[in-house]
Parts: sequence; C-alpha cells; structure tokens
Amino acid sequence: MKAFIFDLDGVIVDTAKYHFQAWKRIVEKLGFTLSHTQNESLKGVSRIASLDRILSWANTTLTEEEKQQLLVEKNEDYLAQISTMGQDEILPGVLELLTYCQSNSILVALGSASKNGTLILEKLEITSFFNAIVDGNHVSKSKPDPEVFLKGAHALGVAPSDCVVFEDAAAGVDAARAAGMRTVGMGGAKEVAHADFCFHQMTEISTEFIRSLA
Ligand code: BG6
Ligand code: MG
Repeated sequence: MKAFIFDLDGVIVDTAKYHFQAWKRIVEKLGFTLSHTQNESLKGVSRIASLDRILSWANTTLTEEEKQQLLVEKNEDYLAQISTMGQDEILPGVLELLTYCQSNSILVALGSASKNGTLILEKLEITSFFNAIVDGNHVSKSKPDPEVFLKGAHALGVAPSDCVVFEDAAAGVDAARAAGMRTVGMGGAKEVAHADFCFHQMTEISTEFIRSLA
C-alpha cells in the first residue's frame, strides 16, 4: 500500500499571506519590519520557532511570558483572517487529487507544522479525505526534523519508503528526505528545487504521474 502525505499551508491552501500579515502586525509593535524574503524562510516552520527566528532578526530578547503573549496575539490575528475561509480557497487540483486517492486506495495523511491543521481541513470541508492527521499539536520537533512525516507514516501503517510527501517549503522537503520519503515540491519556488519532482500547482500533475508514484 502506498501513501501520500500532504503539507497543508502552501500545498492545500494558500495561508502564507495570512501568516505574513499576522506576523507583520505583531512584530511592528517591536519596531521591526518583516520582509517578504524573511517570511519565505518561515514557511513550514512552527509558530514558536518562527517567533524565535524573527526575534533574532530583530535583535530582540523577550521573556518567556512576553513570547507566549505574542504567540497568542499572532494566532488570534491569524484566526480572525481565516474565519471566513471556505472550499473556494482550496488550491487548484487539490480536490481532484484527493478524490483520485480515495477512489484508488491511496492512503492520505496530513503532515503539517500548523496547530490549526484540523480546523482548516474542517473549514475546507475535506477532513473525510484524510486517513490520518498529524499536525503541530502532535509533534515536539519542527520541520526539517522528520518527526511529523514519520508519525504520519506510522499512523497510516505504511513504511516511510512507501510514502510520497507533497511540500512547498524547504524545511518540509528536508524533513521528508530525512524521513526516507520521496518528495514532490509544490509552488515552483527555488527553495523546493531539491525535491524529487517539482510542479507549480496540482493541475499540472497527470494521472500517469500519480500512477507512477503509487
Ligand atoms: C506552517 C506554516 O505550515 O505552519 C508556517 O508554513 C506556520 O508559516 C506553521 O508558522 C505553524 O502554523 P500555526 O497555524 O500553528 O501558527
Ligand atoms: Mg507549507
């Protein structure tokens, strides 16, 4: 049995713009302006690890309590932005691929750093396509550590070498490779050029290609 493990942000739905806005507003309070390039490098990185990176760019040290407060505020801003999110925000080709997997006995898992993974799948109304969900609530180590994908494979009962990971972030491709899985880099960014295969969006992925993977 083969399995596909999907990252969430940037693969299933384009949430990067919401994360970016939320971080920007939060760190402006610290007198720091977050650039697009810096935001790119935060893709796939957990909320706490993202804050630590931003604080080091801003040359700022905060107490544990202050950090926790910022993390709460950042997530509240993010949740407010995605409150009206629905099926129309699913990236092109995703529903078709999930449907193909369901009809062709390809197991499907979520492998995301986000602690909002379950909520977002529900908002997009695609939870039922997933045989397992592993998100930021289930892991102790952030991508590029392979933990999230190894847990996904384990939850599906599939060997890592039988899993294919769809990822849009460098940290995610590195994590999947460290887990011994094949990788499909999504979105066309140079950061995922080291994946085994690369596509701009899922509509470019043919049934023949999917069959060759599974
Ligand atoms: C990743 C995103 O999927 O999840 C990151 O690419 C984000 O930008 C991380 O920081 C954690 O997400 P959340 O929803 O738990 O803040
Ligand atoms: Mg991603």
